[in-house]
Amino acid sequence: MMVFKSKNEVAIKIKALASEDLSIGFVPTMGALHDGHIALMKTAALENDVLAVSIFVNPTQFNNSTDLDKYPRNVGKDIELIYSHFDKEQTIIYTPDVDDVYSDQIIAKHYAYGGLENKMEGASRPGHFDGVGTILEFLFHLFKPARAYFGEKDFQQLQIVKSLREQLALDLEIIGCPISREDSGLARSSRNGRLTDLGWITAAKIYQSLLLAKEMYASGKYDRIQKTVEQTYDKIENLDLEYFTIAREVDLETAPPAEMPQKGLRAFVVAHVDGVRLIDNMKLS
Ligand code: PAF
Repeated sequence: MMVFKSKNEVAIKIKALASEDLSIGFVPTMGALHDGHIALMKTAALENDVLAVSIFVNPTQFNNSTDLDKYPRNVGKDIELIYSHFDKEQTIIYTPDVDDVYSDQIIAKHYAYGGLENKMEGASRPGHFDGVGTILEFLFHLFKPARAYFGEKDFQQLQIVKSLREQLALDLEIIGCPISREDSGLARSSRNGRLTDLGWITAAKIYQSLLLAKEMYASGKYDRIQKTVEQTYDKIENLDLEYFTIAREVDLETAPPAEMPQKGLRAFVVAHVDGVRLIDNMKLS
């Protein structure tokens, strides 16, 4: 069983694997694992010799201490779930305490991601992507993976991580994987566990709103999409829209209706249900 709480133990293991020339597929997580994480791990296990998973709720990427406190944690169950799917001998799990990662001070480094950091999630959650960069720089250096896997649900994070790899000139491939959804269309998220039964039903409307945007986009009703989607949220109880925006995948620049007939656009949404902040997106073109 390869479950490590210490970075030093991980470093020794990684060195041994490197000496055997074994490739590592890395899936960083904050735990509370669900089928979406397992799908990332399956791809990583398939494409590499060894699967590595980190489970760590990273404090520096939370700008709201209540959100950090409420973030679901159940490492024992997470480890069981991983080992119910993957070979124990081929799977490394790192579940550090905060002081193994942040030795003296729990602070984030600063990164410039070419402006990506100021859009959408960056604007709503100041400092969030500095925290993400800090933990991923640490983890990438520790695991030295050949490939690292990220879900497209956090599409902005995926673009940020690609920019981080460029900045740090890291020799690894960043792989984006499709959003994993419940039958209702609700994007799988660790946060869904905090939804009430009714909240689960309401939250599926977020997916419906993206489908509506896609449909309107396909029929060229560019100038009406924003308003129509916003109006659907106004009509649904216990579903509060934080933002809905159509932006270019490459730089996350908002696309005004006049520029919409172009390739590489995506609709992005954040909404709150039962006080839980949920994020989703959908490719439009
Ligand atoms: O997407 C997440 O779960 C986190 O942002 C990540 C990439 C594990 C960094 O803490």
